[in-house]
Amino acid sequence: MSDRLATRLTRRYGLALPVVLAPMALAAGGALAAACARGGALGLVGGGYGDLDWTRREYTLARQLAGHAALGCGFITWKLDQDASALVWLLDRPADQLPRALMLSFGDPRPYAARIARAGVDLICQVQQLAQLPQAIEAGATVVVAQGAEAGGHGMNALNGRATLSFVPEVADWLAAQAPDTLLLAAGGIADGRTLAAALMLGADGALVGSRLWATRESLAAEGAKRQAIGTDGDGTARSSIFDILRRKNWPEPYDFRAIRNDLHRRLEPQLDSLRAHPEAARAEYEAAVAAGDYSAAHATVGEAVGLINDAPAAQAVLQRMADQARERLG
Ligand SMILES: Cc1cc2nc3c(=O)[nH]c(=O)nc-3n(C[C@H](O)[C@H](O)[C@H](O)COP(=O)(O)O)c2cc1C
Repeated sequence: MSDRLATRLTRRYGLALPVVLAPMALAAGGALAAACARGGALGLVGGGYGDLDWTRREYTLARQLAGHAALGCGFITWKLDQDASALVWLLDRPADQLPRALMLSFGDPRPYAARIARAGVDLICQVQQLAQLPQAIEAGATVVVAQGAEAGGHGMNALNGRATLSFVPEVADWLAAQAPDTLLLAAGGIADGRTLAAALMLGADGALVGSRLWATRESLAAEGAKRQAIGTDGDGTARSSIFDILRRKNWPEPYDFRAIRNDLHRRLEPQLDSLRAHPEAARAEYEAAVAAGDYSAAHATVGEAVGLINDAPAAQAVLQRMADQARERLG
């Protein structure tokens, strides 16, 4: 009997299940990327804001731990526009150490497309709206990720964001008509075998999984943040710019950020304009909480899928559970 989880994605990257680890900035380090790769997924290191030292260290670690398993890296595109040295370093690796894929999100991927293609590395583009698809195809994306607003971390704000359930099949239809060889991943809310099976039913070739793999032993997320996530249900997150303002991250419109809606977030919600104008006092409170590991004010970055997260085991155990449950459901 053929494997119900075999897709174009698993065949292209030699995976055991159609899952890609989201390149989560500062959480998806070398240990997590390698654990996912060894567990049969494509492991993307979270190159995030493009820090060269961090990327070099974590990608090198991933390579050492992963053997020949499939690895890649992801970057925030608008930040690369200021400093692309980490991307350049990756593309300069010897052939046997090159990433299989580079993922670009949140900005125009086209200025980087030719360099990535010349190195023989696949380009993965994450999009949040149909209007971004022509750009991704023009950039030569091998894989497009359709990210719903349920997702943890950055994505489109409430005025522009789409929900995974209707966005993924609409993107699948668009790709079938315009770029049928391009693979599609669903992202946002996929955290167990049911949601993985649903992603395949919606027409995706696999899922990009962030929050569920953030809450694992190998993730670099703080233990206190993981504990808070385990105790939080899916009602307990929100999207806003609050934590970006507190962290001095100058994210461009129309992006904002989903994390646990903690006490400080709730308190600042009614005063967003004055927070923007005078962030100093709230920043001091936030920074003290980060230093103290106090998650009533420090942020924990997870999406609505946090309601499906009840533990933080080894990444390989999470992947095995997802695969077993998805196979059962698809049967
Ligand atoms: C902790 C965290 C950090 C993230 N950092 C990035 C990032 O640096 N670059 C990026 O493209 N996406 C990032 N994302 C978003 C993921 O790529 C992905 O869209 C999302 O995790 C999918 O939804 P899920 O969290 O429900 O699985 C992050 C997500 C999380 C949870």
